[in-house]
Amino acid sequence: MRKTSDIIWQDAQHQVLFEIIDLLKGADADIEVLRRLEYYTEHHFALEELYMSQLDFPGRDEHIKAHNRFRIEISQLLEEGQEPDALFREIIATFLTEWLTRHVFGIDKELEKFILESGSC
Ligand SMILES: [Fe+2]
Ligand SMILES: [Fe+2]
Repeated sequence: MRKTSDIIWQDAQHQVLFEIIDLLKGADADIEVLRRLEYYTEHHFALEELYMSQLDFPGRDEHIKAHNRFRIEISQLLEEGQEPDALFREIIATFLTEWLTRHVFGIDKELEKFILESGSC
């Protein structure tokens, strides 16, 4: 549920990321879903990183490190280059959902608060 204190772009993009991860669980999901996740993740991370850099966000280095870990996870999954089977997709989707939930409700919230307080959203 969106609150009035949420930053609209950040909240909307997180929802898209969760939706793409959910698609991975579908019976007809293929490696294209992972590519889409990689593409959209990069778009989202780049925008957060732009705000962090422009606003000189104090937690910037730690936050970018966390993004980079996620980037590596996805690129390693893609490097394997195989169509993931149902069990593997379920495991990947669970892992990615847990990671993203921790991130979105953890350090992304700190960034959101900082952006809101800066009046730059
Ligand atoms: Fe985020
Ligand atoms: Fe983030």
